[in-house]
Order: sequence, then C-alpha cells, then structure tokens
Amino acid sequence: MPFDLVPRFAAVSVVALLASLAVSDVVAEADDTRTQINLLPKYRQECATCHIAYPPVMLPPASWQRILGNLSHHFGSDASLDADSVHQISTWLTAHSSGNADARAAPPEDRITRSTWFQHDHAEVPASVWKRPAVKSASNCAACHTRADQGNFDEHFIHLPQ
Ligand code: HEC
Ligand code: HEC
Repeated sequence: MPFDLVPRFAAVSVVALLASLAVSDVVAEADDTRTQINLLPKYRQECATCHIAYPPVMLPPASWQRILGNLSHHFGSDASLDADSVHQISTWLTAHSSGNADARAAPPEDRITRSTWFQHDHAEVPASVWKRPAVKSASNCAACHTRADQGNFDEHFIHLPQ
C-alpha cells in the first residue's frame, strides 16, 4: 500500500528528528558491517520472493516478532509459513535486529519505511519520485538502491528511476 511520505515527515517533531539522527547514523554507518550480513538461508528463501530480504538490523525485535506472528495478514498479503520455519526465521531476525536499546524504535505498522531514521534519510527525495511507476512504494528499496538485495544501501549505489 503506497503512502505519502512527505506529509508524515513534516509532522515529525524536532525532538523525534534529533532522536532519529542517532539511529540514522547507526544504520548509515552500519552499511558494511551490519546490513551486509550472511542471511539465514531460510530467511532468503521465504522472505525475499515478494520484496528484498530487508536487513534485520532495520527493525527492533518486537517488530519482527509481530510480523512473524501474523504472516497470514501480512501488509495485505498472505505470507503464511509452517510453524517450524516461522520459529527459525523469528529467532534469527530477533538475534540480528536493532536490539532493545531504544524502545521507541518500533515504527508505526512495524514498517521500516515509517521509522524516523528512514524518513530522515529520505527527506530530500521529492514526492513525485515516490509516485513513479518503477517505484510505486517506499518499501520497494531495490527500485533506487541498486545493491539492496546485497544489503548495500551506500549512497554510491543509488539510481533514481525515471
Ligand atoms: C506473498 C508476498 C510476500 C512474502 C512471501 C513476504 N512479504 Fe513482506 N511484504 C509483502 C507486501 C505486499 C508488503 C507491503 C509492501 C508495500 O507496502 O509496498 C510487505 C512488507 C513487508 C515489510 C515492511 C516494509 C516497509 O514498508 O517497511 C516487512 C518488514 C516485511 N514485509 C517482512 C517480511 C518477512 C520477514 C517475510 C518472511 C517471513 C516476508 N515479508 C514475506 C509481501 C510479502
Ligand atoms: C525512490 C527511491 C528510493 C527508495 C524506494 C528507497 N530509497 Fe533509500 N535512499 C534514496 C535516496 C535518494 C537516499 C539519499 C542518499 C543521500 O542523500 O545520501 C537514500 C538513502 C538511504 C539510506 C542512507 C544511506 C547512506 O549512506 O546515508 C538508507 C539506509 C536507505 N536509503 C535505505 C532504504 C531502504 C531500506 C529502503 C526500502 C525499505 C529504501 N531506502 C528505499 C532513495 C530511495
């Protein structure tokens, strides 16, 4: 479900923005060491068919657990898995998540794209770009981050589709 990023960002308070900078730095600096990790084969197999395998460090443990606990109603899709796979993936994602240091980090709807750091990092992307047919949704990281499938979000590997 596409959503309008810009008005939401505008509503973010200065305090939330400052808080987000620390998280943003963590994620940005983390590109090599924390987002480009070897993925659990089952995670890649089951969770990278409809979208990229999102780096586990981009959500706190509670968000991953809620997502894995409700796969039959997964952002408008049915992504159900057998209980053993759910358990394996949930355990692995939790272990590699952003951790519990900042309880406020759980974003609305447990969406990476609604995290304050995400909205901060993308504040300069014009609203019109998000609406281009090749992008459609902010969740579609690979539309702009050409190495997103490798967990690489470095600014050198960004190409905005026309
Ligand atoms: C049947 C297709 C499908 C499968 C399989 C699937 N997803 Fe998704 N997922 C979606 C859709 C559709 C969205 C919403 C995308 C949008 O809003 O544009 C989504 C969104 C997400 C988001 C939020 C992205 C954001 O907006 O920040 C996360 C996190 C996520 N999925 C994790 C997972 C995990 C973990 C698995 C494996 C257990 C998984 N997905 C498997 C279809 C799927
Ligand atoms: C419409 C294109 C687009 C989409 C879709 C998109 N991004 Fe970005 N992303 C950008 C741009 C542009 C920047 C800013 C680069 C800059 O100014 O340094 C950026 C910056 C980032 C950064 C900071 C990189 C750095 O080195 O500072 C991260 C992390 C990031 N994006 C992750 C994601 C994730 C995860 C997704 C999907 C859930 C996503 N992006 C979806 C265009 C996009």
